[in-house]
Amino acid sequence: MGKINIGIIGLGAVGERLLKQFTAHPETNVTAVSDVNVARLEEMKRDLPEASTYTDYRELLQDKLVDLVYVAVPPKFHHPIVVDVLKAGKHVLCEKPLANSLEEAKEMLELAETAGVVHAINFPLPYSNPVEVLEEKIRGGYIGNLKRVELTMQFPTWPREWQQNPWIAGREQGGFVREITPHYIQLMHQLFGAVKNIHTYIEYPENEAQCETGIIARMELENGVPILVDGLSGIGKKEEINFRMYGDKGVLSLLNWSVLTGSNLLEQENVEIERENARTGLIDELVKAISGERAKLVTFKEGFAVQEVLEKLLELK
Ligand SMILES: NC(=O)c1ccc[n+]([C@@H]2O[C@H](COP(=O)([O-])OP(=O)(O)OC[C@H]3O[C@@H](n4cnc5c(N)ncnc54)[C@H](O)[C@@H]3O)[C@@H](O)[C@H]2O)c1
Repeated sequence: MGKINIGIIGLGAVGERLLKQFTAHPETNVTAVSDVNVARLEEMKRDLPEASTYTDYRELLQDKLVDLVYVAVPPKFHHPIVVDVLKAGKHVLCEKPLANSLEEAKEMLELAETAGVVHAINFPLPYSNPVEVLEEKIRGGYIGNLKRVELTMQFPTWPREWQQNPWIAGREQGGFVREITPHYIQLMHQLFGAVKNIHTYIEYPENEAQCETGIIARMELENGVPILVDGLSGIGKKEEINFRMYGDKGVLSLLNWSVLTGSNLLEQENVEIERENARTGLIDELVKAISGERAKLVTFKEGFAVQEVLEKLLELK
């Protein structure tokens, strides 16, 4: 099989990040890009002179060269664009969260399951080295019986400096609950299974157009183990996202996406756990799936399951 041709819709901060990864990968070629922002499209064209450029994504979907479409537009456009990608019969990689509502996510899942194409969501954590080690430690009994899971998200300002765009501070599709928690809901599902009994307290500013400034939520795993979600923006400290798992024998913590530390009854000190050899990445797995091999992808099925939890977390009580 020759290289897989990638079309990218949405060339913002995140679209550009993956564009670089697809370009660097030996088995993929970025052959087409689309953005409604013409200046952005021109900028990308300089780095990819061979690629076709489209301001209307529907033209990219007509491009017979394109095998897989990566959709990296703001969340409320995932649904209409992904539906069109699926109807065009192309493989699809969608940014997280899958959609901007549960109804949209359901329709996308149903369509994806009947379209006969590869469908996946860009959740980077399952491919990361620290998460591989974290999973091994949990399965190997490092923390013993799980007693509690805790996710804390703290931001001096929201939005963060690197992600300034027109939607990220808005209630309709932005906010740190929509942006950050999907990654950790997926991780909870991967490590511990389904999440239920979601009770949430969300702090919203008076201005109804603006996103939340705080969340305190309690959920449970199927076996009743409590999960606490505690998020706050506008506080006088450096950004910190910490995912902690407390067990009767030890504790593991994944700090700021990539720093895994642990302490257990044998090792009293907090030890940083590192390992070199990386798991195969998302693009390797996409290539495998498109070639008909078994692959480890986070599909729309899991995207829908994450959306179910996400929408409950955001419900005003
Ligand atoms: N996987 C991750 O780790 C991760 C991290 C951050 C953000 N995200 C997600 O990635 C997505 C994009 O985020 P971002 O920060 O890059 O946003 P952004 O606003 O910087 O970029 C979005 C781009 O899409 C373009 N666009 C909008 N509508 C379009 C259309 N109809 N056709 C073509 N282009 C269109 C915009 O012009 C813009 O260039 C969001 O869903 C976000 O939640 C994922």
